[in-house]
Amino acid sequence: VTSALSLCSPNYYVLDDGAGLGRVFDGVGGLSGGGATSRLLVNYEEPYRGQILDYLFKPNFGASLHILKVEIGGDAQTTDGTEPSHMHYENDENYFRGYEWWLMKEAKKRNPNITLIGLPWAFPGWVGHGKNWPYDFPDITAAYVVNWILGAKQYHDLDIQYVGIWNERNYDSKYIKVLRSMLDRVGLSDVGIIAADGDWSIANSMIIDQLLYDSVEVIGAHYPGTTTVPDALKTQKALWSSEDYSTFNDEVGGGCWARILNQNYINGLMTATISWNLVASYYDKLPFGRDGLMTAEEPWSGNYVVESPIWITAHTTQFTQPGWTYLQTVGHLAQGGSYVSLTDGKGNLTVVIETMTHNHSVCVRPPLPKFNVTSQNATFQLKGSFVSIKELHVWRSQFNFKTKKPVFFEKQTPLTVMNGSFTLNLAEDEVYTLTTITTGQKGSYPDPPPSACFPKVYKDDFNVRNPPFSEAPDFADQTGVFEYYNNLTDPGPHTFTLRQVLTERPITWATDADQTISVIGDYEWENLTVTCDVFMESVRTGGVFIAARVDKGGQSIRSTNGIFFWVFADGTYKVTNDLAGQAVLAEGQSGTRAYGWHTLSLTVTGPLASGMLNGYPLWKNAVVLNPKNGWAAIGTHSFELAQFDNFAIVAQ
Ligand code: GAL
Ligand code: CA
Repeated sequence: VTSALSLCSPNYYVLDDGAGLGRVFDGVGGLSGGGATSRLLVNYEEPYRGQILDYLFKPNFGASLHILKVEIGGDAQTTDGTEPSHMHYENDENYFRGYEWWLMKEAKKRNPNITLIGLPWAFPGWVGHGKNWPYDFPDITAAYVVNWILGAKQYHDLDIQYVGIWNERNYDSKYIKVLRSMLDRVGLSDVGIIAADGDWSIANSMIIDQLLYDSVEVIGAHYPGTTTVPDALKTQKALWSSEDYSTFNDEVGGGCWARILNQNYINGLMTATISWNLVASYYDKLPFGRDGLMTAEEPWSGNYVVESPIWITAHTTQFTQPGWTYLQTVGHLAQGGSYVSLTDGKGNLTVVIETMTHNHSVCVRPPLPKFNVTSQNATFQLKGSFVSIKELHVWRSQFNFKTKKPVFFEKQTPLTVMNGSFTLNLAEDEVYTLTTITTGQKGSYPDPPPSACFPKVYKDDFNVRNPPFSEAPDFADQTGVFEYYNNLTDPGPHTFTLRQVLTERPITWATDADQTISVIGDYEWENLTVTCDVFMESVRTGGVFIAARVDKGGQSIRSTNGIFFWVFADGTYKVTNDLAGQAVLAEGQSGTRAYGWHTLSLTVTGPLASGMLNGYPLWKNAVVLNPKNGWAAIGTHSFELAQFDNFAIVAQ
């Protein structure tokens, strides 16, 4: 809406609902998974774990998120680890694996209105009948996904509101229609389909295919760089940035988030933005370390950090709700920066202004074209339903890059509106919220314990009768899935163990290794002893390892190096410099067999490694020049069942 005045004064902006409204706002969210990004969060002790959850989800406290999106675990590597599936095997169903169920319940406890979304990155191998592709049997894939939604309700009383297709991979129109009709058939017609969590190209398919059009409720694009495409607008469907941010969470990360939260709507009419990721709760030497709204990567110390993106989120989330509507009067400021305005339709108004400069708001992708922002005065004129507003509450963040003393989400004295108008002095790199909403609050807790290294002496016997989670603390699966196991038939002391449970390669999202592996500990460890009891369950073909100085995880897991001590069920052992097993440092006879327990021990000191079997030296003085440091690990030679017990580390 142009007003006569705005034509002659560039610093004059009207906020008006008189000529109708813009699009309905769907919220700001965080993404847990894609993958294993909340892995370490679950192992925090109270009260710290609850505090972290409060900073994320509690209304009028911190980020106060409107949306929680989670990965539907598919047993495969999906960036920072694997997340377990609810159906490892075709005839298997279990809705208590992993931590996403727990996380959704914790979010819901704090905010009963939070919107829940599920999206698969990967699928168990059986879904594709052995082919690395989920669409040849669309009924099977749809049933698999629908089961997850039904399980959420049946076992956790969670209503999933939206479901996606296959993260950043091909979509298949046939599959989307099959999924839609299956959802409808089982009484889940309220569950909306988001497609296709990649680029905007599905918009064109929707225009030419009416049934596809009817099947999709929201077009979700990733890292859209705040813009959309004409076809997407033409569909008239809700447009979301269904994954965005992914930026290191220092102040520039906060600046990125401030800019895209406003401009995804202004430039691209996107009505929801979801941060990858929710909370950086994975070993920080895994890919994309600290790319979350806050950091909680030290369950062993209890330390966590409430980073700037939390408070930037609060500027929008604490003063709006899904169901509010954007005004048409949103846009760019004359000297750079932007403003959005939203209303609940009952007289409330919230305006969010950001003046982030280019270099202080670069996101990980896509590249950010040059633009200028300078300090400026901005005069806002309230019109329509808002003319009679006399006072606005003011919340301000100043990044202060020069003094390095940022101030986030600070409540200012309320602003008096004179004759429906007010003027702000905007400096560079600031965020303002002006609002009629009175409930804003900067939540706080006493400082958490100081940061500390992973304990140098560490033990786990896995003797937990009713584990609260399927995974043992601090183990971060990088290929395969390791679960607590109740080995009732074991006559000896190994009733409670940790078991690798995948027997087949999943439909992958990344390049998973051909072996399974779970890493643990401190990436800086050089000299240490790793000990573990191992039990192979594949006669003749079985193989297991323990390892030290494992130097890569995530999508690079296939090419990880380290010192790997393997024993095989054919009676041999091997020592290799790599997970792939190509660089052999030593090998020979071990007498190891399936269905018997063996104790492996690996010691690495400087350039020399040695190994023991059942307490006796088996090999020694293997020369390892690289890597110099890395995590400890356990794993198997292939996708095969195997158990581990009495894991122990002593690091120097
Ligand atoms: C996305 C992906 C996420 C994560 C992120 C890292 O493309 O969906 O799982 O890998 O990139 O930037
Ligand atoms: Ca045990």
